[in-house]
Amino acid sequence: MKAYRFDSFDNLDALRQREEADPRPQRGEVLVRVRAVSLNFRDIAMVLGRYPRACRPGLIPASDAAGEVIEVGEGVTAFRPGDRVMGAFHPRWFGGEMPSTILADSYGAENDGWLAQLKAVSQEAIVRLPDGLSYEEGSTLPCAGLTAWNALTGATPIRAGHSVLIQGSGGVSIFALQLARMVGATVIATTSSAGKVERLKALGAAAVVNYADDPEWGKAVRKLAGGRGVDRVVEVGGPGTIGQSLRAVALGGEIVSVGFLSTDNPGIDFFALKASGASIRNVAVGDRAGLIEMTRAIAMTGLKPVIDRVFDFDAAREAFAYLETGAQFGKIVIRV
Ligand SMILES: NC(=O)c1ccc[n+]([C@@H]2O[C@H](COP(=O)([O-])OP(=O)(O)OC[C@H]3O[C@@H](n4cnc5c(N)ncnc54)[C@H](OP(=O)(O)O)[C@@H]3O)[C@@H](O)[C@H]2O)c1
Repeated sequence: MKAYRFDSFDNLDALRQREEADPRPQRGEVLVRVRAVSLNFRDIAMVLGRYPRACRPGLIPASDAAGEVIEVGEGVTAFRPGDRVMGAFHPRWFGGEMPSTILADSYGAENDGWLAQLKAVSQEAIVRLPDGLSYEEGSTLPCAGLTAWNALTGATPIRAGHSVLIQGSGGVSIFALQLARMVGATVIATTSSAGKVERLKALGAAAVVNYADDPEWGKAVRKLAGGRGVDRVVEVGGPGTIGQSLRAVALGGEIVSVGFLSTDNPGIDFFALKASGASIRNVAVGDRAGLIEMTRAIAMTGLKPVIDRVFDFDAAREAFAYLETGAQFGKIVIRV
C-alpha cells in the first residue's frame, strides 16, 4: 500500500509518500480501504510546533477518515466486507469518563493515523457511515463534527431560543454553525475575511463580526445578542480570544474551550472571568457514543458537511499547505 509519514515535524517536505507492506487484520480487527481523509488544525499544528504536546516523528498522520471494510479478522461480528465506515477519533474512548489511554492512542502524534490506502483497526474503533453521506463527507465527522456536537450538547444542550458564538470559519466552527441551526439556535459568527461573511450568512449566521477589523469584537457580539451576551461560545481561538469571549458570553452562559488557533497569549484577567458569571468547559473531541449519536442526527436531518476542497492522494502535501494558510471555509479532504 501507499502511505504517508512525517519523517520529522520540521516542515512539510518531511511528509513523504512510501510503498509499505499491506497491513493484515488481527483478531477483532477490520481492514479498511481508506477512501477519504480529512485534515484538522492539529495536523498542521504539529508541523508548526504549535501542538500542545510532544509528537513522535515517523508516524502516518491524520486522525479522521472514512472507507470501506474489505476484510475482517477472526472474531469480528460487528462489521463485514462492504460496510462503509469512519474511524473514531479516540479509538478506545467508548463512553463515560475519558480513559487514561487517551494520549497514548492519539493518531498522528503517538500512533499511526489514517493517511494511507489501508488501515487495520479494531472493530470497536470504527462507526458505520450513513448512506446519505459520501466518503469525503463522512471523513469530516470524527474530529471536527464531534467536537462541535460535544460543544453544543454537554450538561446543557443548546436548543431553540439559545444563542451561540462561533469563531472563524474552520472545520469545528462551521459544524457548530450548522448543528446549532439544526436545533433552531441563533448563531453569531466572527471571521477575519470579508469574503466569508456572505457564506456564513448563507449557512444561517444571523450576524457576522470581523474580528480582524474590530479588536473589541466581544463587545460587538454581546450587543448583537440583545445586550445580554450569548449562551454558548465555541472557543476555538484560545489564548488570544478568551478575553473577548468573556465579554461576549451571557451571565450563566458557557464557554467551551476547544482550540488554540490564536498566536498571541495576553493571559486571562481573573476578574473578567469571575464577572462573566460563565462557566468554562474543556472538551477533547468526544467519545464513540457521541459520534454515533451525532451521526444519527446528521443522517436524519440531512445536514451536509461543508467541504472547501478535495485534494488527490498524491497532492497530500498541498492539502497540508492549504490548511496552513487558513483560507479554507469548512473542511479540507484528501481523496485516497
Ligand atoms: N479540544 C478539542 O477537542 C479540539 C477538537 C478539534 C479541534 N480543536 C482545536 O480547535 C481549533 C480549530 O480547529 P479546526 O480544525 O476547526 O481549525 P481550522 O479548520 O484550521 O480553522 C481555520 C480557521 O480558523 C479561523 N481562525 C484562525 N485564527 C483565528 C483567531 N485568532 N480567532 C478566530 N478564528 C481564527 C480562520 O477563520 P477566518 O478565515 O474566518 O478568520 C481560519 O479559516 C484548533 O486549535 C484545533 O486544534 C480542538
